[in-house]
Amino acid sequence: MEHYKLIGPITQLITMADLPLQGTLVGKEAQTIKQAGILIKGSNIYEVGIYEALLPKGEKLNAENITLDTEYVCLPGFIDAHTHICFAGSRATDYAMRNAGKSYLEIAENGGGIWDTVTNTRKASFEELQYSIIKRANSLVRNGITTIEVKSGYGLSVTEELKMLRAIRNANQITEADLIATCLAAHMLPNDYKGTKASYLHEIATTLFPILQTENLTNRIDAFIEQSAFSATDIQPYFKQAKAMGFDITVHADQFSTSGSEVAITFNAISADHLEASTDYEIERLAASNVIAVALPGASIGLGCNFAPARKILDAGGALAIASDWNPGSAPMGDLLTQACILGTFEKLTNIEVLAGITFRAAAALNLKDRGQLLPGMLADFNLFPTDHYNEICYHQGKILPSQVWKKGELVY
Ligand code: NIG
Ligand code: FE
Repeated sequence: MEHYKLIGPITQLITMADLPLQGTLVGKEAQTIKQAGILIKGSNIYEVGIYEALLPKGEKLNAENITLDTEYVCLPGFIDAHTHICFAGSRATDYAMRNAGKSYLEIAENGGGIWDTVTNTRKASFEELQYSIIKRANSLVRNGITTIEVKSGYGLSVTEELKMLRAIRNANQITEADLIATCLAAHMLPNDYKGTKASYLHEIATTLFPILQTENLTNRIDAFIEQSAFSATDIQPYFKQAKAMGFDITVHADQFSTSGSEVAITFNAISADHLEASTDYEIERLAASNVIAVALPGASIGLGCNFAPARKILDAGGALAIASDWNPGSAPMGDLLTQACILGTFEKLTNIEVLAGITFRAAAALNLKDRGQLLPGMLADFNLFPTDHYNEICYHQGKILPSQVWKKGELVY
């Protein structure tokens, strides 16, 4: 018999439903239920509504009553749709060098940057890696993030990429968050690789891709399209192969120079992430496509560069998700809510656009249809914030954290 729970009364519950996936939300109201209740069946939402009206239903279903006696705002569990939290080592020296005038790409060209993290991640044991993912994921859960995308990409050989992806899979069984793994073996050409970019990508596609499927490690393939990594031409056969095998595609696009977003459109990618360098042309092209644009304000803050043109993307009719890009190099802070709110102030996003970017629009960036909104049938992933209005949550830019985090119908924090 399924276990039912009724939680309430909740001062303000924002369902994040009835909002479009694409385009501006300026002037749009969030669907709000005052004095709300959530009726849960097992790990899913059975019904949301006015608490008083749910009470007799709960009684009939023999639901466990979880009564709240203080003010709360309830929002869907947040989704961080782009992270690199499987890594070892620190890049504090890169950060110091950048602030002293060196650029991210210069540091990378001199053997630092991503390669430094690859060296440390390869040295780390499987257990160390697994533990570090769990530790970081658990810290995110405490901030209300119940789904976390995690990329490989610091292994850069078949064996080392497998180590990362298996560590992510094991960590997923232990942390309360859902970890959505992505293969980023195309992060850069490894410095110790003897062949060409083409032969490296061919080796990964022919050797690693089949193992990803037999071991069910991921259904997502990512690539970094940039001068320091792979060009639009380099990546064609790789993405063609990934597509033919049925993988979802996602792209590190337009971070320092354009072309990645066009690759994303060509391959009908689920998302194009970064976009700090996108011009009006790329914005229009993206907005006319089904690709979700993912802004990564943490990388702009970490590198001290401009934000992705989030306002323009929305005004052009694009779908905008916001993610942390937590990684040791460009985005070491790893604080999604703070970064999303800061992006909101600089890009003039409404609070609902900010919250959409880390809930249902972030779910779309991961091709997940069962979360991001508080609707019957969806996962019972939600946060209770100790305040009376969602505006307070954005206004405090990450300072108000949830008092309760619920994941799949269980109180996990
Ligand atoms: O999304 N841009 C490429 N990859 C990461 C950074 C990785 C690193 O510097 O370690 C990013 O910013
Ligand atoms: Fe990234």
